[in-house]
Amino acid sequence: MPATIIVGAQWGDEGKGKIVDVLAERHTLVARYQGGSNAGHTVLVGAEEFKFHLLPSGILSPETVCILGAGVVIDPEVLVRELDELEGRGRPTNGLRISGNAHLVLPWHRLIDQATEVRLGDLQIGTTRRGIGPAYADRAARVGIRVQDLLDRKILREKIIAALSVKKDTLQHVFGVADLDAESIIAQTVAYADRLEPHVADTSLLIAQALARGESLLCEGAQGTLLDLDHGTYPFVTSSNPIAGGACVGLGFGPTHVTSVVGVAKAYLTRVGAGPFPSEADPDDDSALRVKGGEFGTTTGRARRCGWLDLVGLRFAARVNGLTELVLTKLDVLSGFDHVRVCTAYRLPGGRVVDEFPAHQSDFHHASPVFETLEGWQEPLDDVTRVEDLPAAARAYVAYVAGASGVPVSLVGVGQRRDQVLVADAATTCGALVA
Ligand code: IMP
Repeated sequence: MPATIIVGAQWGDEGKGKIVDVLAERHTLVARYQGGSNAGHTVLVGAEEFKFHLLPSGILSPETVCILGAGVVIDPEVLVRELDELEGRGRPTNGLRISGNAHLVLPWHRLIDQATEVRLGDLQIGTTRRGIGPAYADRAARVGIRVQDLLDRKILREKIIAALSVKKDTLQHVFGVADLDAESIIAQTVAYADRLEPHVADTSLLIAQALARGESLLCEGAQGTLLDLDHGTYPFVTSSNPIAGGACVGLGFGPTHVTSVVGVAKAYLTRVGAGPFPSEADPDDDSALRVKGGEFGTTTGRARRCGWLDLVGLRFAARVNGLTELVLTKLDVLSGFDHVRVCTAYRLPGGRVVDEFPAHQSDFHHASPVFETLEGWQEPLDDVTRVEDLPAAARAYVAYVAGASGVPVSLVGVGQRRDQVLVADAATTCGALVA
Protein backbone atom coordinates (compact mmCIF):
# COMPACT_ATOMS: atom_id res chain seq x y z
CA MET A 1 0.00 0.00 0.00
CA PRO A 2 1.09 3.45 -0.83
CA ALA A 3 2.54 6.62 0.56
CA THR A 4 0.79 9.93 0.03
CA ILE A 5 2.57 13.24 0.44
CA ILE A 6 0.72 16.38 1.49
CA VAL A 7 2.63 19.46 0.52
CA GLY A 8 2.02 23.19 0.79
CA ALA A 9 1.71 24.59 -2.74
CA GLN A 10 2.28 28.23 -1.73
CA TRP A 11 4.17 30.10 1.03
CA GLY A 12 2.81 27.97 3.87
CA ASP A 13 -0.37 28.44 5.92
CA GLU A 14 -2.47 26.75 3.23
CA GLY A 15 -4.52 24.80 5.77
CA LYS A 16 -2.57 21.54 5.44
CA GLY A 17 -3.18 20.64 9.09
CA LYS A 18 -6.90 20.32 8.63
CA ILE A 19 -6.52 18.27 5.45
CA VAL A 20 -4.06 15.94 7.18
CA ASP A 21 -6.50 15.66 10.08
CA VAL A 22 -9.29 14.68 7.67
CA LEU A 23 -7.13 12.18 5.75
CA ALA A 24 -5.32 10.76 8.82
CA GLU A 25 -8.18 8.43 9.66
CA ARG A 26 -7.58 6.57 6.39
CA HIS A 27 -3.88 6.03 7.12
CA THR A 28 -1.97 3.90 9.61
CA LEU A 29 0.92 6.32 9.90
CA VAL A 30 1.17 10.09 9.65
CA ALA A 31 4.70 11.45 9.48
CA ARG A 32 6.17 14.94 9.47
CA TYR A 33 9.32 15.10 7.39
CA GLN A 34 10.81 18.59 7.85
CA GLY A 35 10.53 21.91 9.64
CA GLY A 36 10.06 22.41 13.33
CA SER A 37 8.10 24.62 15.68
CA ASN A 38 8.08 27.36 13.01
CA ALA A 39 4.98 25.56 11.70
CA GLY A 40 1.52 26.17 13.08
CA HIS A 41 -1.57 24.09 12.46
CA THR A 42 -5.00 24.91 13.80
CA VAL A 43 -7.47 22.04 13.74
CA LEU A 44 -11.10 22.33 14.80
CA VAL A 45 -12.78 19.14 16.00
CA GLY A 46 -16.39 19.88 16.90
CA ALA A 47 -16.18 22.91 19.14
CA GLU A 48 -12.65 22.07 20.25
CA GLU A 49 -9.71 23.96 18.79
CA PHE A 50 -6.23 22.46 18.70
CA LYS A 51 -3.07 24.34 17.80
CA PHE A 52 0.08 22.41 16.98
CA HIS A 53 3.55 23.53 16.12
CA LEU A 54 5.50 20.30 16.21
CA LEU A 55 3.11 17.42 16.63
CA PRO A 56 1.78 15.97 13.37
CA SER A 57 -1.89 16.88 12.89
CA GLY A 58 -2.65 13.15 12.78
CA ILE A 59 -2.11 12.99 16.55
CA LEU A 60 -5.86 13.60 16.96
CA SER A 61 -6.65 10.20 15.39
CA PRO A 62 -6.20 7.78 18.30
CA GLU A 63 -5.44 4.76 16.08
CA THR A 64 -2.76 6.54 14.06
CA VAL A 65 0.96 6.21 14.63
CA CYS A 66 2.45 9.71 14.35
CA ILE A 67 6.06 10.17 13.39
CA LEU A 68 8.48 13.05 13.65
CA GLY A 69 11.09 12.02 11.09
CA ALA A 70 14.83 12.59 10.89
CA GLY A 71 14.33 15.73 8.81
CA VAL A 72 12.40 17.56 11.55
CA VAL A 73 14.19 19.84 14.00
CA ILE A 74 12.71 19.37 17.44
CA ASP A 75 12.56 21.96 20.18
CA PRO A 76 12.07 19.68 23.19
CA GLU A 77 10.54 22.47 25.25
CA VAL A 78 7.80 23.01 22.64
CA LEU A 79 7.21 19.30 22.11
CA VAL A 80 6.88 18.53 25.82
CA ARG A 81 4.48 21.47 26.21
CA GLU A 82 2.31 20.21 23.34
CA LEU A 83 2.26 16.66 24.72
CA ASP A 84 1.32 17.93 28.19
CA GLU A 85 -1.45 20.10 26.77
CA LEU A 86 -2.96 17.29 24.70
CA GLU A 87 -2.81 14.83 27.58
CA GLY A 88 -4.36 17.47 29.84
CA ARG A 89 -7.31 17.54 27.42
CA GLY A 90 -7.71 13.78 27.63
CA ARG A 91 -6.18 13.02 24.24
CA PRO A 92 -3.78 10.06 24.04
CA THR A 93 -0.24 10.74 22.79
CA ASN A 94 1.22 7.26 23.03
CA GLY A 95 1.13 6.93 19.24
CA LEU A 96 3.97 9.43 18.86
CA ARG A 97 7.32 8.14 17.55
CA ILE A 98 10.35 10.41 17.22
CA SER A 99 13.33 9.63 15.01
CA GLY A 100 16.57 9.39 16.95
CA ASN A 101 18.22 11.08 13.97
CA ALA A 102 16.16 14.26 14.24
CA HIS A 103 18.13 17.26 15.45
CA LEU A 104 17.32 19.32 18.52
CA VAL A 105 16.62 23.03 18.62
CA LEU A 106 18.30 24.27 21.78
CA PRO A 107 18.22 27.66 23.54
CA TRP A 108 21.25 29.01 21.70
CA HIS A 109 19.60 28.34 18.33
CA ARG A 110 16.67 30.55 19.26
CA LEU A 111 19.00 33.28 20.54
CA ILE A 112 21.16 33.19 17.39
CA ASP A 113 18.06 33.29 15.16
CA GLN A 114 16.72 36.33 17.02
CA ALA A 115 20.07 38.10 17.17
CA THR A 116 20.79 37.47 13.47
CA GLU A 117 17.46 38.99 12.46
CA VAL A 118 18.13 42.06 14.59
CA ARG A 119 21.59 42.38 13.05
CA LEU A 120 20.21 42.10 9.52
CA GLY A 121 17.89 45.05 10.18
CA ASP A 122 16.11 46.02 6.96
CA LEU A 123 17.55 42.96 5.24
CA GLN A 124 16.05 40.50 7.70
CA ILE A 125 14.21 37.44 6.43
CA GLY A 126 11.36 37.76 8.91
CA THR A 127 11.93 34.32 10.43
CA THR A 128 9.66 32.91 13.11
CA ARG A 129 12.66 33.29 15.46
CA ARG A 130 12.21 29.70 16.64
CA GLY A 131 15.85 28.81 16.00
CA ILE A 132 15.11 26.82 12.86
CA GLY A 133 17.87 28.15 10.58
CA PRO A 134 20.65 27.88 13.20
CA ALA A 135 19.58 24.31 14.12
CA TYR A 136 19.66 23.19 10.46
CA ALA A 137 22.98 25.03 10.01
CA ASP A 138 24.49 23.02 12.89
CA ARG A 139 23.09 19.84 11.36
CA ALA A 140 24.79 20.60 8.03
CA ALA A 141 28.02 21.54 9.81
CA ARG A 142 27.81 18.23 11.72
CA VAL A 143 27.91 19.86 15.12
CA GLY A 144 24.22 19.38 15.96
CA ILE A 145 22.77 17.49 18.90
CA ARG A 146 20.30 14.77 17.97
CA VAL A 147 17.31 13.17 19.66
CA GLN A 148 19.33 9.99 20.19
CA ASP A 149 21.80 12.01 22.25
CA LEU A 150 18.99 12.43 24.77
CA LEU A 151 19.16 8.69 25.46
CA ASP A 152 22.66 8.83 26.96
CA ARG A 153 22.89 11.47 29.65
CA LYS A 154 26.70 11.43 29.67
CA ILE A 155 26.93 12.05 25.93
CA LEU A 156 24.20 14.67 26.19
CA ARG A 157 26.14 16.54 28.86
CA GLU A 158 29.37 16.41 26.86
CA LYS A 159 27.71 17.59 23.68
CA ILE A 160 25.90 20.49 25.33
CA ILE A 161 29.13 21.66 27.00
CA ALA A 162 31.05 21.36 23.71
CA ALA A 163 28.38 23.16 21.69
CA LEU A 164 28.03 25.94 24.23
CA SER A 165 31.75 26.55 24.46
CA VAL A 166 31.68 27.50 20.78
CA LYS A 167 28.30 29.28 20.72
CA LYS A 168 28.98 31.30 23.86
CA ASP A 169 31.74 33.24 22.14
CA THR A 170 29.56 33.99 19.13
CA LEU A 171 26.63 34.99 21.29
CA GLN A 172 28.64 37.18 23.65
CA HIS A 173 31.17 38.76 21.32
CA VAL A 174 29.23 38.96 18.05
CA PHE A 175 25.67 39.45 19.25
CA GLY A 176 26.24 40.84 22.75
CA VAL A 177 23.88 38.29 24.31
CA ALA A 178 24.36 37.48 28.00
CA ASP A 179 26.14 34.30 29.05
CA LEU A 180 24.25 31.01 28.88
CA ASP A 181 24.46 28.71 31.88
CA ALA A 182 25.46 25.22 30.72
CA GLU A 183 24.35 23.49 33.93
CA SER A 184 20.82 24.85 33.82
CA ILE A 185 20.48 23.97 30.12
CA ILE A 186 21.74 20.45 30.86
CA ALA A 187 19.30 20.02 33.76
CA GLN A 188 16.40 21.25 31.67
CA THR A 189 17.31 19.08 28.67
CA VAL A 190 17.67 15.99 30.87
CA ALA A 191 14.15 16.60 32.18
CA TYR A 192 12.86 16.77 28.58
CA ALA A 193 14.85 13.62 27.79
CA ASP A 194 13.06 11.74 30.57
CA ARG A 195 9.74 12.80 29.13
CA LEU A 196 10.54 12.09 25.44
CA GLU A 197 12.59 8.90 25.74
CA PRO A 198 9.61 6.49 25.54
CA HIS A 199 8.70 8.01 22.15
CA VAL A 200 12.12 7.64 20.49
CA ALA A 201 12.20 4.95 17.78
CA ASP A 202 13.80 3.85 14.52
CA THR A 203 11.11 5.55 12.47
CA SER A 204 12.55 4.66 9.05
CA LEU A 205 12.28 0.97 10.03
CA LEU A 206 8.75 1.47 11.39
CA ILE A 207 7.71 2.96 8.06
CA ALA A 208 9.36 0.19 6.04
CA GLN A 209 7.65 -2.48 8.14
CA ALA A 210 4.26 -0.78 7.88
CA LEU A 211 4.57 -0.40 4.10
CA ALA A 212 5.59 -4.07 3.81
CA ARG A 213 2.44 -5.05 5.75
CA GLY A 214 0.39 -3.16 3.19
CA GLU A 215 -0.38 -0.22 5.47
CA SER A 216 -0.52 3.35 4.25
CA LEU A 217 1.64 6.35 5.08
CA LEU A 218 0.62 9.98 5.00
CA CYS A 219 3.59 12.35 4.84
CA GLU A 220 2.80 15.77 6.26
CA GLY A 221 4.79 18.66 4.88
CA ALA A 222 5.18 21.89 6.82
CA GLN A 223 5.60 25.39 5.31
CA GLY A 224 5.26 25.38 1.52
CA THR A 225 6.90 25.00 -1.88
CA LEU A 226 7.93 28.65 -2.22
CA LEU A 227 9.67 28.46 1.18
CA ASP A 228 11.79 25.50 0.06
CA LEU A 229 15.48 26.04 0.77
CA ASP A 230 16.58 24.89 -2.69
CA HIS A 231 13.63 25.69 -4.92
CA GLY A 232 11.83 28.51 -3.13
CA THR A 233 12.28 32.26 -3.17
CA TYR A 234 15.74 32.23 -1.55
CA PRO A 235 16.84 33.85 0.74
CA PHE A 236 13.26 34.42 1.93
CA VAL A 237 12.77 30.73 2.61
CA THR A 238 12.96 28.32 5.48
CA SER A 239 15.98 26.07 6.05
CA SER A 240 14.46 22.73 5.05
CA ASN A 241 12.79 21.10 2.02
CA PRO A 242 9.00 21.27 2.24
CA ILE A 243 8.63 20.00 -1.36
CA ALA A 244 7.53 16.43 -1.96
CA GLY A 245 11.09 15.21 -2.57
CA GLY A 246 11.86 16.20 1.03
CA ALA A 247 9.51 13.51 2.33
CA CYS A 248 11.68 10.58 1.27
CA VAL A 249 14.85 12.27 2.53
CA GLY A 250 13.31 13.40 5.80
CA LEU A 251 11.66 10.08 6.62
CA GLY A 252 14.06 7.56 5.10
CA PHE A 253 11.93 5.64 2.61
CA GLY A 254 12.16 5.22 -1.15
CA PRO A 255 10.25 7.27 -3.76
CA THR A 256 8.88 4.08 -5.35
CA HIS A 257 6.31 3.92 -2.53
CA VAL A 258 4.78 7.30 -3.35
CA THR A 259 1.50 7.05 -5.22
CA SER A 260 0.02 10.50 -4.72
CA VAL A 261 1.28 13.99 -4.07
CA VAL A 262 -1.44 16.28 -2.83
CA GLY A 263 -0.79 20.01 -3.08
CA VAL A 264 -2.72 22.22 -0.69
CA ALA A 265 -3.37 25.79 -1.83
CA LYS A 266 -5.59 28.51 -0.49
CA ALA A 267 -8.11 29.97 -2.95
CA TYR A 268 -6.06 33.16 -2.56
CA LEU A 269 -2.51 33.70 -1.34
CA THR A 270 -0.68 34.81 1.78
CA ARG A 271 2.90 35.33 2.72
CA VAL A 272 4.48 35.90 6.14
CA GLY A 273 7.76 37.72 6.49
CA ALA A 274 9.74 39.62 3.92
CA GLY A 275 10.29 38.93 0.22
CA PRO A 276 8.66 39.61 -3.14
CA PHE A 277 4.96 38.83 -3.57
CA PRO A 278 3.82 39.75 -7.12
CA SER A 279 0.10 39.11 -6.61
CA GLU A 280 -0.10 41.02 -3.31
CA ALA A 281 -3.46 42.79 -3.12
CA ASP A 282 -4.04 46.53 -2.82
CA PRO A 283 -4.52 47.73 0.79
CA ASP A 284 -8.34 47.41 0.77
CA ASP A 285 -8.44 43.86 -0.58
CA ASP A 286 -5.40 42.93 1.51
CA SER A 287 -7.16 43.92 4.68
CA ALA A 288 -10.51 42.39 3.60
CA LEU A 289 -8.82 39.05 2.91
CA ARG A 290 -6.87 39.20 6.17
CA VAL A 291 -9.90 39.91 8.32
CA LYS A 292 -12.19 37.40 6.58
CA GLY A 293 -9.53 34.72 6.41
CA GLY A 294 -8.22 35.29 9.95
CA GLU A 295 -4.77 35.67 8.42
CA PHE A 296 -2.65 36.03 11.51
CA GLY A 297 0.19 33.60 12.22
CA THR A 298 -0.48 30.63 14.53
CA THR A 299 3.14 30.66 15.61
CA THR A 300 3.99 34.35 15.75
CA GLY A 301 0.62 36.13 15.65
CA ARG A 302 2.00 38.28 12.81
CA ALA A 303 -0.42 39.70 10.26
CA ARG A 304 0.00 37.79 7.00
CA ARG A 305 0.35 39.70 3.74
CA CYS A 306 -2.61 38.82 1.49
CA GLY A 307 -3.04 38.66 -2.25
CA TRP A 308 -4.73 36.88 -5.12
CA LEU A 309 -4.12 33.34 -6.25
CA ASP A 310 -0.89 33.16 -8.21
CA LEU A 311 -1.19 30.58 -10.98
CA VAL A 312 2.43 31.01 -12.02
CA GLY A 313 3.46 29.92 -8.52
CA LEU A 314 0.87 27.14 -8.49
CA ARG A 315 2.08 25.70 -11.79
CA PHE A 316 5.62 25.87 -10.40
CA ALA A 317 4.42 23.92 -7.33
CA ALA A 318 2.79 21.36 -9.62
CA ARG A 319 6.11 20.99 -11.43
CA VAL A 320 8.57 20.71 -8.54
CA ASN A 321 6.33 18.48 -6.46
CA GLY A 322 4.81 16.38 -9.24
CA LEU A 323 1.36 17.13 -7.85
CA THR A 324 -1.26 14.52 -8.64
CA GLU A 325 -4.11 16.49 -7.07
CA LEU A 326 -4.88 19.83 -5.54
CA VAL A 327 -6.86 20.71 -2.45
CA LEU A 328 -8.25 24.24 -2.58
CA THR A 329 -8.86 25.62 0.91
CA LYS A 330 -10.68 28.66 2.29
CA LEU A 331 -12.87 29.20 -0.75
CA ASP A 332 -15.44 30.70 1.66
CA VAL A 333 -13.12 33.66 2.27
CA LEU A 334 -13.70 34.86 -1.30
CA SER A 335 -17.48 35.20 -0.78
CA GLY A 336 -18.58 38.83 -0.95
CA PHE A 337 -16.10 40.04 -3.55
CA ASP A 338 -17.77 41.38 -6.71
CA HIS A 339 -14.78 40.20 -8.68
CA VAL A 340 -12.00 37.79 -7.90
CA ARG A 341 -8.57 38.24 -9.44
CA VAL A 342 -6.04 35.59 -10.39
CA CYS A 343 -2.46 36.20 -11.46
CA THR A 344 -1.90 34.31 -14.70
CA ALA A 345 1.56 35.56 -15.70
CA TYR A 346 4.34 37.96 -14.69
CA ARG A 347 5.49 41.01 -16.59
CA LEU A 348 9.25 41.37 -16.25
CA PRO A 349 11.27 44.60 -16.46
CA GLY A 350 11.55 45.36 -20.18
CA GLY A 351 7.98 44.19 -20.77
CA ARG A 352 8.46 40.48 -21.41
CA VAL A 353 5.50 38.43 -20.13
CA VAL A 354 6.26 34.96 -18.74
CA ASP A 355 3.98 32.26 -17.41
CA GLU A 356 6.74 30.07 -15.95
CA PHE A 357 8.18 30.90 -12.54
CA PRO A 358 11.35 32.98 -13.14
CA ALA A 359 14.56 31.07 -12.58
CA HIS A 360 16.49 34.23 -11.76
CA GLN A 361 15.85 36.05 -8.47
CA SER A 362 16.07 39.53 -10.01
CA ASP A 363 13.30 38.68 -12.46
CA PHE A 364 11.09 37.49 -9.63
CA HIS A 365 11.91 40.50 -7.44
CA HIS A 366 10.85 42.86 -10.20
CA ALA A 367 7.93 40.86 -11.61
CA SER A 368 4.59 42.61 -11.78
CA PRO A 369 1.39 40.59 -11.96
CA VAL A 370 -0.76 40.06 -15.03
CA PHE A 371 -4.22 39.66 -13.55
CA GLU A 372 -7.34 38.10 -14.97
CA THR A 373 -10.61 39.13 -13.36
CA LEU A 374 -13.24 36.48 -12.72
CA GLU A 375 -16.81 36.82 -11.58
CA GLY A 376 -17.25 36.82 -7.79
CA TRP A 377 -20.09 35.52 -5.66
CA GLN A 378 -21.88 36.96 -2.65
CA GLU A 379 -23.31 33.89 -0.95
CA PRO A 380 -21.57 32.58 2.18
CA LEU A 381 -20.35 29.00 1.72
CA ASP A 382 -20.28 27.85 5.34
CA ASP A 383 -23.32 25.61 5.03
CA VAL A 384 -22.60 24.16 1.62
CA THR A 385 -22.12 20.41 1.93
CA ARG A 386 -21.60 19.40 -1.71
CA VAL A 387 -19.45 20.97 -4.42
CA GLU A 388 -22.47 20.73 -6.72
CA ASP A 389 -24.28 23.18 -4.43
CA LEU A 390 -21.65 25.91 -4.58
CA PRO A 391 -22.76 29.14 -6.29
CA ALA A 392 -22.09 28.87 -10.03
CA ALA A 393 -19.28 31.46 -9.92
CA ALA A 394 -17.55 29.64 -7.06
CA ARG A 395 -17.73 26.34 -8.94
CA ALA A 396 -16.45 28.03 -12.05
CA TYR A 397 -13.56 29.43 -10.00
CA VAL A 398 -12.56 25.96 -8.77
CA ALA A 399 -12.80 24.53 -12.29
CA TYR A 400 -10.76 27.46 -13.62
CA VAL A 401 -7.98 26.80 -11.07
CA ALA A 402 -7.92 23.10 -11.95
CA GLY A 403 -7.68 23.91 -15.65
CA ALA A 404 -5.10 26.67 -15.32
CA SER A 405 -2.85 24.76 -12.94
CA GLY A 406 -3.17 21.50 -14.84
CA VAL A 407 -3.90 19.66 -11.60
CA PRO A 408 -7.30 18.17 -10.73
CA VAL A 409 -8.89 19.68 -7.64
CA SER A 410 -9.96 16.82 -5.38
CA LEU A 411 -11.17 18.59 -2.23
CA VAL A 412 -12.49 22.08 -1.53
CA GLY A 413 -12.44 23.73 1.90
CA VAL A 414 -15.30 26.04 2.82
CA GLY A 415 -14.75 26.50 6.55
CA GLN A 416 -12.70 25.50 9.54
CA ARG A 417 -14.55 22.36 10.60
CA ARG A 418 -13.71 18.82 9.49
CA ASP A 419 -17.07 18.51 7.73
CA GLN A 420 -16.43 21.66 5.73
CA VAL A 421 -14.12 19.84 3.32
CA LEU A 422 -16.09 18.98 0.19
CA VAL A 423 -15.23 16.22 -2.27
CA ALA A 424 -14.92 17.79 -5.70
CA ASP A 425 -16.94 16.66 -8.68
CA ALA A 426 -16.10 15.68 -12.24
CA ALA A 427 -15.81 19.26 -13.51
CA THR A 428 -13.21 20.28 -10.96
CA THR A 429 -11.31 17.01 -10.78
CA CYS A 430 -11.03 17.07 -14.58
CA GLY A 431 -12.34 13.52 -14.47
CA ALA A 432 -9.81 12.20 -11.95
CA LEU A 433 -12.05 11.61 -8.94
CA VAL A 434 -10.46 10.91 -5.55
CA ALA A 435 -10.99 7.61 -3.79
P1 IMP B 1 12.05 30.27 9.65
O1 IMP B 1 11.51 29.01 9.09
O2 IMP B 1 11.55 30.55 11.04
O3 IMP B 1 13.54 30.32 9.56
O4 IMP B 1 11.51 31.48 8.75
C1 IMP B 1 11.92 31.63 7.40
C2 IMP B 1 10.77 32.12 6.54
O5 IMP B 1 9.77 31.13 6.46
C3 IMP B 1 10.05 33.37 7.08
O6 IMP B 1 9.61 34.14 5.99
C4 IMP B 1 8.85 32.79 7.80
O7 IMP B 1 7.78 33.72 7.90
C5 IMP B 1 8.52 31.64 6.89
N1 IMP B 1 7.81 30.55 7.59
C6 IMP B 1 8.34 29.62 8.39
N2 IMP B 1 7.39 28.77 8.82
C7 IMP B 1 6.23 29.18 8.25
C8 IMP B 1 4.90 28.67 8.27
O8 IMP B 1 4.57 27.66 8.90
N3 IMP B 1 4.00 29.38 7.54
C9 IMP B 1 4.32 30.48 6.80
N4 IMP B 1 5.56 30.97 6.74
C10 IMP B 1 6.50 30.32 7.45
